[in-house]
Amino acid sequence: MYIFKKITDLQEYLSSQREKGLKIGFVPTMGALHKGHISLIEASKNGSDLTVCSIFVNPTQFDNADDLQKYNRNLPKDAEMLGLAGNEVLFAPSVQEIYPPDLDTEIRMEFGSLTKVLEGRFRTGHFEGMVQVVSRLLDIVQPNSLYMGQKDFQQAAIVNAMLSQQKREIELVVCPIIREAHGLAMSSRNTRLDPNDRQAAKAIHERLLIAKEQINDTPIDQIKKEANAHLEKVGFRPDYFEIVDGNSLQSLNQTSESEYVVACVAAYMKDVRLIDNMILRKA
Ligand code: PAJ
Repeated sequence: MYIFKKITDLQEYLSSQREKGLKIGFVPTMGALHKGHISLIEASKNGSDLTVCSIFVNPTQFDNADDLQKYNRNLPKDAEMLGLAGNEVLFAPSVQEIYPPDLDTEIRMEFGSLTKVLEGRFRTGHFEGMVQVVSRLLDIVQPNSLYMGQKDFQQAAIVNAMLSQQKREIELVVCPIIREAHGLAMSSRNTRLDPNDRQAAKAIHERLLIAKEQINDTPIDQIKKEANAHLEKVGFRPDYFEIVDGNSLQSLNQTSESEYVVACVAAYMKDVRLIDNMILRKA
């Protein structure tokens, strides 16, 4: 596997590969890799000729300094996992490389309510920072396809809107959520849960499954109320358990309002904030 830290070196290599007609698949990450990330590498390897994975803990998308500081950084371990998965190129730039002081990387774009609902209500500036870095990384890598996880449902929806506003000819492939055996969605934050809390955290997935069972015959208010009450009972502090339209991400009052219904949840177990979602119905 090639590892590049400098944009010029990466671009020199990628343009030589592009000249050979190879299609490039790109998987942006912040490292602390797990099987969820590796599933994106595998999807890209299936759909592209050459896979580039980036590892960059993007400071501009952290609304909480403590979260940024505690972010698990282990490049040698991540590189080993990527190598075993058959990833071909790893791009691991410094903050200066991505945000040189003389370059204006700020994105001035309007996403309407997409960035204001759900996570947007609780993480000020998070999506602006995420869009800034994804846009910058796409300028650098210039992939044919971009692979992202459904785990961050709202992130994928916003990136989709960004790609069309910027008129980029990049295919976005949204890959399924990879879960631990008992149902907890894999996340780099899961390692911060102690064994008991990690076990209790399976309640998120259980409630999503129950919501899926209930969606056609139970009022939305009741589904949400029961889910929140159960999550609180097992030790969570939910930020939200919302049922939304999968395109607009607007909350639904009645299931009949949409054909594409998604449940999205964010909840704290002690100081660890977990998010998850499930498509409850799609036409
Ligand atoms: P990160 O949290 O490292 O996630 C990188 C990619 O892995 C995202 O597309 C995310 O949705 C996906 N992913 C995470 N957990 C997953 C799981 N359990 N199953 C499947 N896919 C999963 O998301 C980011 O980084 C950043 O915001 C980034 C896009 C890299 C911009 O900085």
